[in-house]
Amino acid sequence: MSSLSNRVAAITGASSGIGLACARHLAREGVAVVLGARRRDRLDIAVREIETSGGRASAIEMDVTREADNVQLIAEAQARFGRLDVVICNAGFGYYGTLEDTPPDIMRRMMEVNYMGTFLGARAALPVFRAQRSGHLIFVSSIVGRRGIPFMGGYSATKAAQSGLAESLRSEFAGTAIHVTCVYPISTRTEFHEAMERDYGHSVSGLGPKQSVEDVARAVVGCVRHPRPEVYPHATSRALAVLSIMAPAFTDRMVRKYGRRRDTVGHAPRPDGHT
Ligand SMILES: NC(=O)c1ccc[n+]([C@@H]2O[C@H](COP(=O)([O-])OP(=O)(O)OC[C@H]3O[C@@H](n4cnc5c(N)ncnc54)[C@H](OP(=O)(O)O)[C@@H]3O)[C@@H](O)[C@H]2O)c1
Repeated sequence: MSSLSNRVAAITGASSGIGLACARHLAREGVAVVLGARRRDRLDIAVREIETSGGRASAIEMDVTREADNVQLIAEAQARFGRLDVVICNAGFGYYGTLEDTPPDIMRRMMEVNYMGTFLGARAALPVFRAQRSGHLIFVSSIVGRRGIPFMGGYSATKAAQSGLAESLRSEFAGTAIHVTCVYPISTRTEFHEAMERDYGHSVSGLGPKQSVEDVARAVVGCVRHPRPEVYPHATSRALAVLSIMAPAFTDRMVRKYGRRRDTVGHAPRPDGHT
């Protein structure tokens, strides 16, 4: 197994869920981690916890939709730990509803956070990677970015956009030591559904299989160790992507039956997300 100690990773959306689990797992392997997200209190707790366990960590309060914040995340990694090897563009949120029920302001915000956040994170990292002729970009997409599911069309589109960007970059850097990976988790137990409820008044449940953040984080650590173009942390989910190409109409009926359903209806949506 190749050693990860002395490597440095910057991770967006690291105050909870998949991003935080990736930070913990990478820190355990000796990687110095720089955590980015909006909730300073959460970030401070995470940094203390990682340092108490013997890891190296730092954090910056950032909003991935701001170009300057992404540049600052990269600068923090270099200033604090002297290098940058991995950038994980993970921050994101979801929305459930028919197209007519999805307010355009929420759709724009979702594209800003999920896609533009990834674009800006990659844009901030690539000059460093090009200069050192190595580096690893990891985008946390979703299985719904490979195969859209009913009533999450807006969200699925943002995740497919990440996937398209990853494929293009990957082919640009093919044969070099700059790696690009797209990760496709299935429904994962995180604050994703709470965030949806907190900010938009509803949540959803996946009716199909679920996985833990530990499953996703282990898969991400594995691909940092041995870079791969695509990572499907739930072993069988790759089959859905293949099935969708081979038999799209059959897959439409299948995902309609086993897709996600709305859980609760609460307060009115807040197009800005929380602050
Ligand atoms: N949970 C699932 O079922 C699932 C499945 C497939 C893919 N994913 C993807 O996994 C990624 C992580 O989601 P999660 O499930 O771990 O949910 P989560 O626990 O809600 O984590 C989302 C993270 O994104 C951060 N974030 C949100 N908006 C941000 C912004 N504008 N700027 C900076 N940080 C922001 C949040 O931190 P702050 O609120 O502190 O900013 C939080 O750390 C997302 O891209 C999601 O689409 C999730």
